[in-house]
Amino acid sequence: MVKKMQQAKDDPWQEAYDFAVEVARKAGEVIRKAGECEIKVCTKSSTVDLVTKTDERVEKIIIGCLKEKFGPDTYSFIGEESVAQGKPCILTDKPTWIIDPVDGTTNFVHGFPFVAVSIAFAVEKKLEFGVVYSCLEDKMYKARKGKGAFCNDERLQVSDVQDIHKSIIISEHGTDRSPEKVTKIFSTMQRILCIPVHGLRGSGTAATNMCLVACGAVEAFFEIGIHCWDIAAGAVIVREAGGMLLDVDGGPFDLMSRRMVSANNKIIAERIIKEIETFSVERDDAVVCKK
Ligand code: IPD
Repeated sequence: MVKKMQQAKDDPWQEAYDFAVEVARKAGEVIRKAGECEIKVCTKSSTVDLVTKTDERVEKIIIGCLKEKFGPDTYSFIGEESVAQGKPCILTDKPTWIIDPVDGTTNFVHGFPFVAVSIAFAVEKKLEFGVVYSCLEDKMYKARKGKGAFCNDERLQVSDVQDIHKSIIISEHGTDRSPEKVTKIFSTMQRILCIPVHGLRGSGTAATNMCLVACGAVEAFFEIGIHCWDIAAGAVIVREAGGMLLDVDGGPFDLMSRRMVSANNKIIAERIIKEIETFSVERDDAVVCKK
């Protein structure tokens, strides 16, 4: 008991980290079961931005479990579905959980087998740990700042490829179908493909894509238009596996900017950045920034 109290004092977030893994697993079970039944689909920002009752239910379960364990007012929360329902998307210095209950909702709806629960935790605006449960594959990815990244308890390490010609790159096209943006996205993909690289891929979930970078299965993943809940957990996992994050213009990574390149190393990241045709997106915390 005394030992446990001392541990908690020395390391205030280990309990939260362990509990996040438990909650992610529980959430994944709910998603798996829900996938066996008929799925009722609604839309959000556009006709291709899908949401289901499962997204909402799973977010409630996750936040409910965290509040029950740690107290209702101990932490702040940023959750994809809470934000969709009008809750603020503001990262403050207060310890904050950043949650995507079902990353890859379109996959979930179609039975495409990559769907992830993504739970991250930030303190003083810095990411402390991240958990991504790829629930249909039953792969539990997790990482804590300074303590390494793991998949089902096996240590992760990014690929050591430095030659872009020997790389696989992941990109996604998100849910904005305005022709100017789609043109830029496909033009970027064409430019990267023609470098040439070995291949272009996309799993349909940003969280899983980042874990694939962390595993060394691909060299990089980039996207403009993702949200903080899609990438917060993956960001810790990539960094702890030895990878890096940058903005799509080569500047520092900014979690709320909705733009990101994650890569195994700087050489690959900067080579891709040369080919990216950027476009503007409203920041996740735009409301605060406009004040
Ligand atoms: C989406 C996925 C997808 C990415 C989109 C995200 P959601 O998340 O991560 O891979 O391209 O930008 O919005 O909506 O399924 O949680």
